[in-house]
Amino acid sequence: MFIFVKCFRPCKGKTAQQRREPAMAFSSWFSLFLLGLMYRTQLVVAQQDDRSTMLALKEELLVPGWGPDESDFCSWAGVRCSSNGSTVEILDLSHRQLRELEFLDFSSNKFGSSIPPELGSARNLQSLNLSNNFLTGRIPDELQSLKRLHDLQISGNKLNGSIPYWVGNLSNLRVFAAYENELSGKIPENLGSSSEIRLLNLHSNHLGGTIPESIFALGKLEVLVLTMNKLTGNLPESIGNCKGLSSVRIGNNSLIGNIPKAIGNVSSLAYFEADNNNLSGEIVPAFGQCSNLTLLNLAFNGFTGMIPPELGELMNLQELIVSGNSLFGDIPKSLFKCRSLNKLDLSNNRFNGTIPEDICNTPRLQYLILSQNSIRGEIPREIGNCLKLLALQMGSNYLTGSIPPEIGQIKNLQIALNLSFNHLHGPLPSELGKLDKLVSLDVSSNQLSGNIPSAFKGMMSLIAVNFSNNQLTGQVPAFAPFQKSPKSSFSGNKGLCGEPLGSSCGGSFGPIHEGYHHKTSYKIILAVIGSGLTVFLTVTIVVALFMMREKQENAAKHDAGIADVGTTSPPTIVAGNVFVENLRQAIDFDAAVKATLKDSNELSTGTFSTAYKAVMPSGLILLVKRLKSIDRTVIHHQNKMIRELERLGKLCHDNLMRPIGFIIYEDVALLLHEYLSNGTLAQLLHDSTVKTEYKPDWPTRLSIAIGVAEGLAFLHHVAIIHLDISSSNILLDANSKPLVGEIEISKLLDPSKGTASISAVAGSFGYIPPEYAYTMQVTAPGNVYSYGVVLLEILTTRLPVDEAFGEGVDLVKWVHGAPARGETPEQILDARLSTVSFAWRKEMLALLKVALLCTDSIPAKRPKMKKVVEMLQEIKQS
Ligand SMILES: *[C@@H]1O[C@H](CO)[C@@H](O)[C@H](O)[C@H]1NC(C)=O
Repeated sequence: MFIFVKCFRPCKGKTAQQRREPAMAFSSWFSLFLLGLMYRTQLVVAQQDDRSTMLALKEELLVPGWGPDESDFCSWAGVRCSSNGSTVEILDLSHRQLRELEFLDFSSNKFGSSIPPELGSARNLQSLNLSNNFLTGRIPDELQSLKRLHDLQISGNKLNGSIPYWVGNLSNLRVFAAYENELSGKIPENLGSSSEIRLLNLHSNHLGGTIPESIFALGKLEVLVLTMNKLTGNLPESIGNCKGLSSVRIGNNSLIGNIPKAIGNVSSLAYFEADNNNLSGEIVPAFGQCSNLTLLNLAFNGFTGMIPPELGELMNLQELIVSGNSLFGDIPKSLFKCRSLNKLDLSNNRFNGTIPEDICNTPRLQYLILSQNSIRGEIPREIGNCLKLLALQMGSNYLTGSIPPEIGQIKNLQIALNLSFNHLHGPLPSELGKLDKLVSLDVSSNQLSGNIPSAFKGMMSLIAVNFSNNQLTGQVPAFAPFQKSPKSSFSGNKGLCGEPLGSSCGGSFGPIHEGYHHKTSYKIILAVIGSGLTVFLTVTIVVALFMMREKQENAAKHDAGIADVGTTSPPTIVAGNVFVENLRQAIDFDAAVKATLKDSNELSTGTFSTAYKAVMPSGLILLVKRLKSIDRTVIHHQNKMIRELERLGKLCHDNLMRPIGFIIYEDVALLLHEYLSNGTLAQLLHDSTVKTEYKPDWPTRLSIAIGVAEGLAFLHHVAIIHLDISSSNILLDANSKPLVGEIEISKLLDPSKGTASISAVAGSFGYIPPEYAYTMQVTAPGNVYSYGVVLLEILTTRLPVDEAFGEGVDLVKWVHGAPARGETPEQILDARLSTVSFAWRKEMLALLKVALLCTDSIPAKRPKMKKVVEMLQEIKQS
């Protein structure tokens, strides 16, 4: 029998995971080897630089007939290499007395079609991992002969059909993960009855029916994840058997009934998430016995009654989320004994008590969300002691009295202060002006009176305000965030006047005249911006057309070039130099030129250049950038260019990718760089072939953000403005250290002259600061803006431009518009990171603030790069 596995690694370009974790790739290889035992296996592998992998395999497997000459692995028995001698193409490991197959890991590859039934013959298999491929079809019944299997992972595929009954008969099964597939039908009723199942993860499928009792039968379950299915029925009482169960996630199903009291026996429970179901009854006091409980999310169900005071016993509780139920009564005082409480979301219920004075006894409270209830009484002054609060949402209640000035002490308050739709009266306390981090302020629909204090100008981070429908009087202070707000943010206040409302405050011009004047100047500004944009667009189109033509020319040239290789000698090099002394010997100019004539070497193409990989005869690998024709002017100023390059070559900073040399032939300029195998930040964040779990984690992302900021701060320090900051121009080395690339472009193009300035303004779509449209000038604050866009990519894992944001909305507008859309940072940040730990989320929120500052539409308000570095280092240290 033959299994013919073609190209089990992606043929062109390794995925980031393989670049980052050779061990993973190795283990799949290893498994394939072992498979060769049972079947005569032929692997067709297209991969470069196989030497290290082969040596590692030799160490591990001790294959008879391998070695002793380590450098010549192509001559080892069963190995056949490509003609150039560096790539293993065929590996035949049949009949080599290797051990029996116990562990098979094909995860994170690109296998399509269905699961081969032949796998069922590997009867000694204990662990089978086929996760994260493109597998389709059903789970084949042949796998039921894998009696020893204790670990079956098939997640992240496109498998359909139902989970076969025999899975329940695998008596050694400990781990069963089949999440993110298209599985339907019921969860087998015997699952777990004959095996000590510890982990069951079936989230994001189409599973119906009930949660079978059997999975709790032997009491060994530790993790249960069934989120996002169509499960019905009750949560079985037998859940109480599982003392070691730490995580229960059953949200987004159609479960009904009460939560069983037996939940109190689950002493390890840390995470209970059952939101968006049809659960009912009261919240069981038994939760109070789960002393390890960290998160309790019961949002959007049909729970009634009061919150049991027993929850106050939960010293580890960090999040209590019960919004969207029919709970009533007081906010229990006992809750404020929960020392770890970070988020309390009681919104959208019928709570009708008052706000307890000791609400701030919880020293870590960051989110206090009480909106849409029937809460009465005054806001206690003690609220000012909640110093960690990030968001205070109290809208749509029956609160009376005045706004306590003490709220101004909550310096951390940044996400939102929302007191709208209450019965608050009295003045707006000027102390609120101290909230310099606050992004969204809503006090609309109350009975507030007096002026908007000019001290409110201290709220420097404001993006959204709403003062409407009160009894405010006097002039709206001249303050950019106010001027930028729509009229509706101030309407419904009879005595209010000033610019945002388009009405004067009794000056020498009548209100009609003033309004007209205002409108005219507005029109003029729009016209100016419009014409600026038109010029900009025209220029961009011209540039794009030019580049397209150039590309065609290049393509034609390349074709000719390829045909020529071998028959004619390479073009005559007119100039070239290597700045780095100890690399001179290793670099061959002819080989570098030849590499750029072969399309298969192309790595990426950017605004100003196309990058190629070039392998030198010495083994050294270079990244060679071929400048686009638009910049050919530089060729005519060769000497100046060489001087600039040499100067840049001496610029020493860890986070800058400086040129190590150049080559000029005909009218082509090539820049030589070190080759970084880890690709670009853009690839790592956005490449769809990089699976979620191999995207960089939060600490890695933060240190990338810091590294890039340091590189740019240094550039600005030596008075170099970057022309094209984007995640595609940030390269990563093997340790994920970022290096800012394309810095030489800034020096080779002189923005004050001819074509160079036009292309310079172009930059990359989505990163261009709004002011470039009419200033046509590249500036340091413009760089800060583009850097801010990179930060937003890092925080959201979203592209700078994406149709999903809606027409005319880019990433920056989408993020800045979040408070106005009523979205929380959670809905903006990459939830796969922000929900991992509170520490991560805290750092992400802090970085989001920096990103918002950097992408401010007013250039003068953006921080300097040096300041950005300081802010980022503070985030890292705290
Ligand atoms: C403030 O809260 C009210 C009531 O919950 C809500 O309707 C409004 O959208 C909120 N305002 C902002 C700016 O989110």
